[in-house]
Amino acid sequence: MGRPLKHEFDAVIVGAGGAGLYAALESSRASGANRTAVISKLLPIRSHTGAAQGGIGAALGNIEEDKPEWHAFDTVKGGDYLVDQQAAGILADDAVRAVYDLEKRGLPFSRTPEGKIDQRRFGGHTRNFGEAPVRRACYAADRTGHMILQTLYQQCIKNDVSFFDEFQLVDVLIDGRKCIGIVALELATGALHVFDAKAVLIATGGFGRMFRTTSNAYANTGDGPAVLTRRGVPLQDMEFFQFHPTGIRGMGILITEGVRGEGGILRNAKGDRFMEHYAPTLLDLAPRDMIARAIVTEIRSGRGVLGDPAKDDYVHLDATHLGSEVLEKKLPDISDFCRTYLNLDPAQKPIPVQPTAHYGMGGIPTDLDGRVVADEQGGMYEGLYAAGECACVSVHGANRLGTNSLVDLIVFGRRAGRHMSEFVNQADLVAAPADAADPTGQMLDRLGKQRGDEQAEKIRASMKALMMDSVGIYRRGDEMAGAVRELQSLRQAMKQVRIGDMSKAYNMDLLELLELQNLLDLALVTAASADNRKESRGAHAREDFPDRNDGEYLKHSLGWLEDGSVRLGAKPVDLSIWEPKPREY
Ligand code: FUM
Repeated sequence: MGRPLKHEFDAVIVGAGGAGLYAALESSRASGANRTAVISKLLPIRSHTGAAQGGIGAALGNIEEDKPEWHAFDTVKGGDYLVDQQAAGILADDAVRAVYDLEKRGLPFSRTPEGKIDQRRFGGHTRNFGEAPVRRACYAADRTGHMILQTLYQQCIKNDVSFFDEFQLVDVLIDGRKCIGIVALELATGALHVFDAKAVLIATGGFGRMFRTTSNAYANTGDGPAVLTRRGVPLQDMEFFQFHPTGIRGMGILITEGVRGEGGILRNAKGDRFMEHYAPTLLDLAPRDMIARAIVTEIRSGRGVLGDPAKDDYVHLDATHLGSEVLEKKLPDISDFCRTYLNLDPAQKPIPVQPTAHYGMGGIPTDLDGRVVADEQGGMYEGLYAAGECACVSVHGANRLGTNSLVDLIVFGRRAGRHMSEFVNQADLVAAPADAADPTGQMLDRLGKQRGDEQAEKIRASMKALMMDSVGIYRRGDEMAGAVRELQSLRQAMKQVRIGDMSKAYNMDLLELLELQNLLDLALVTAASADNRKESRGAHAREDFPDRNDGEYLKHSLGWLEDGSVRLGAKPVDLSIWEPKPREY
């Protein structure tokens, strides 16, 4: 490795999805031209925010009465009371401002005939504390996330944000509890770059690629939280991973909940609307964890379309009654996916669907301004921020409601960007030592010299199978403990992988190895945290502990990766508004 290239910025943001771009916008407004950099492994408008198809929740009340307080309550209840309640209040209140702000910045929302922002139903969003579904999701057909990316990216360009596209994060430089910059690998050249910064925000998105069937893009490998956990930063609530009920069968590609928001119905082999038995009030618009479990229960009971749980069985999402006009106008991408991937017209035939790993509720613990939490006592890192899916603020608790991921990005990405810009205005830049990139360089050299006969592809497939089969929708202690042991062996096997390609430019072998390392570390923390929580709550459904146990487990978990094992601790939940109740829908 040659000498690293050096850069200096006030604020460095890693990740160019909705949270990163919104933070960059705020930071660049306050600290002036060319003082904010965004480091992204992708071209920004290819970020995974684009996969949030169906809408962004905000109680605008454009179609029917709605209130932010109802939105906050739904969020808390949907998260099975593991949500920090003041954070949920901020999310719901600020969502309204955030949606109008996006509209003013040019986001082309779908409209009502009178020209207002149109709103559709989404799972778990109700009027008057659970009475019936409410139209709260503001949407741009089924391309809401894409439109957010386009809008924010254009605004960042206007604000002279410096973009470093196709740079992979490899280290975050932390001195004690002070963050002073990052190290990144330039994919086009193989060169290392050190970015000195007064403040760093991690917004690298999700890590769903640890599962076999997932809606997540190939790039969703949890680079930010993985690098931080190796630096001693704890990860919060990693046991809670959401399966979206409707992925395309066998592929995992997302079919938006907006289909059910527009009236689509889930049916079993007999054509029965099975959600009547699981959520009699909200039916197909119950929260995702409940619907995903209902689908698995139908399949296990032999009522899947194939009638054989041993096969890769599935159920139907019936949108035929919506008609081609509604489908083409309100769900054009979904209609296109069905034609492209299934050779099927959703106006004529039901869509074959299965649950797909979609969203990590846990991640890097932060306060309400995105500052990273260091310990169980509430100690903080200085100059280190996180926002978006890789962070845990925590507004999703044990199960996120659909549309709240986009709200989270915009509301808490903005808050983190604002706090950063105030922070950098009074902080001094600390230059990283000349040898700051040496550990990264040595790690890359070591990887290049490995001569064992393990294959990364096999390790990846084993991890995905373990996570899907043992840490998936239904879980058991013996299986999760086994998964922890297997994941530890897989991490060891990584030391025996030989890299086939030694070239510098776009070395995909190397990139995929780095990504796999990240996924394995996060999978280990996920499996160990899940084994440790001996109750069922939200998306964490244990067959050996089927009940929620508030007495012992109404607390956030914190996990530290230490010497190949996970040390676990806890953090209190903010219950300052609503008392926990059983969840009924
Ligand atoms: O179903 C969807 O459109 C996904 C949205 C989300 O995850 O919030």
